Amino acid sequence: MVMIGASILSADYGNMSEEVKKAENAKIDFFHVDIMDGHFVPNLSLGLSVPMDLKKITDFPLDVHLMVENPEKFIPKVAGYAEMVAFHAESTKYLFKTIDLIKEYGAKPIIALNPSTTIDCLEYVLDELYGVLVMSVEPGFSGQSFINPMVKKIDVLKKKITSENYDTKIFVDGGINVNTAPKVVAVGADALIAASAIYGKEDINSAVNELRNSVNR
Ligand code: DX5
Ligand code: ZN
Repeated sequence: MVMIGASILSADYGNMSEEVKKAENAKIDFFHVDIMDGHFVPNLSLGLSVPMDLKKITDFPLDVHLMVENPEKFIPKVAGYAEMVAFHAESTKYLFKTIDLIKEYGAKPIIALNPSTTIDCLEYVLDELYGVLVMSVEPGFSGQSFINPMVKKIDVLKKKITSENYDTKIFVDGGINVNTAPKVVAVGADALIAASAIYGKEDINSAVNELRNSVNR
């Protein structure tokens, strides 16, 4: 069963409790929380206190996506409230140290890769990870179009994971909708993250159902 994560980047921040409830009722699997620093990506988004605040209003798992330089500086502020923490391979020289730091807080480590980053940097860490977050848009903004060559990247990554007998999961983030979701699931994506295809829609319940039905044939 493919997991679906609702990215609150496109939610109405003035109505957060209600926005969270709507996604819970639509039976998403987790919330995806995008944190940006204006350096690693050309945008600012949610602050470091958001995971803590969300934990007060939901028991659903939180997947915190750090789009920041030096993620090790910020992990201690968010990892205690998150089930999963994703940091970018491009943002630190210390992959093992950063993975261990996330585990120290009891969260599951995920490494995110920008679209043009190859999977080679994962060679020695893949087995240490709960997941790999394949960015299928350039990080920084919701509402962008899916970058098609990412289907091939997911395919290659899945084959590598399978051939090594690892249980590392593949998360896909960016431009996911009813048209792109089936393509990435066909090559082995385990989790889909969507902002505009969920929170950008009038009816969140049918948006999540449509996304789920597009991949559960
Ligand atoms: C982009 C973020 C994504 C974003 C996805 O930098 O990491 O999580 O919220 O937005 P959509 O689903 O609209 O492409
Ligand atoms: Zn994200």
